Amino acid sequence: MTLELVQVEDVDAIAREAADIIADTMGSQPDALVLAATGDTPMGTYAELVRLGTTGEFDSSRMRIAQLDEYLGIRLDDPRSLFGWLDRALLEPLGIGHDRVIRFDVQAPDAVRSARDYDACIQRGGGIDLAVLGLGLNGHLGFNEPPSDARSPTRVIDLSPDTLASNAAYWGDRPVPTRAITAGMALILAARRVLLLVSGGHKAEVVGRLRHSAPDPQLPASALDAHPRATLIADRAALNA
Ligand code: PGA
Repeated sequence: MTLELVQVEDVDAIAREAADIIADTMGSQPDALVLAATGDTPMGTYAELVRLGTTGEFDSSRMRIAQLDEYLGIRLDDPRSLFGWLDRALLEPLGIGHDRVIRFDVQAPDAVRSARDYDACIQRGGGIDLAVLGLGLNGHLGFNEPPSDARSPTRVIDLSPDTLASNAAYWGDRPVPTRAITAGMALILAARRVLLLVSGGHKAEVVGRLRHSAPDPQLPASALDAHPRATLIADRAALNA
């Protein structure tokens, strides 16, 4: 695996490292388009970015965001909406208006078309400058479930039983939606820079596979091996170190 590795102590250190890289990117390109994951792992990073914004060390006034994935079959105001999660954690606290956000229109009757429209918006916006991603226990990026290879397009997908089980932790008693739209592997891999954030001993097995695997559609994140500027920022527990 040629993925660059940055090993840090814990999830707080991941947040500091990743937020510094994002802030640096914005410093050199204030209107960068950032593909932003939800999930537990990037939340500390977003909180740190908000802190840097408050102290004036980071300027988000021209930052653009694209959402990574979204559930289908829920209303826009559903508390399980991944866009809602991103809004609460990042957009709203940084004052990023929705006019600077590329999101999936999951209420449109034709989800396939929504996926196409999303890709077209990203292309018109100049492509993704920086992707901030988490890693699924099954090796997914976004909702590119195994098997997904480097060419997988932005698309509608049925979530795997593994993902349904992991995502259940986010929503308490509410059922996890079973279908989603995800930015495709091809779009993720076209990002100019990729940060993959991984924390915790429960991820050690998949991180071990990732570090020792050649590109394998059964482990979608392994496609990052061919990316020229992808960095895995992982804590000791995730690296079993
Ligand atoms: P997590 O999710 O950050 O909540 O572990 C990562 C993922 O499933 O993509």
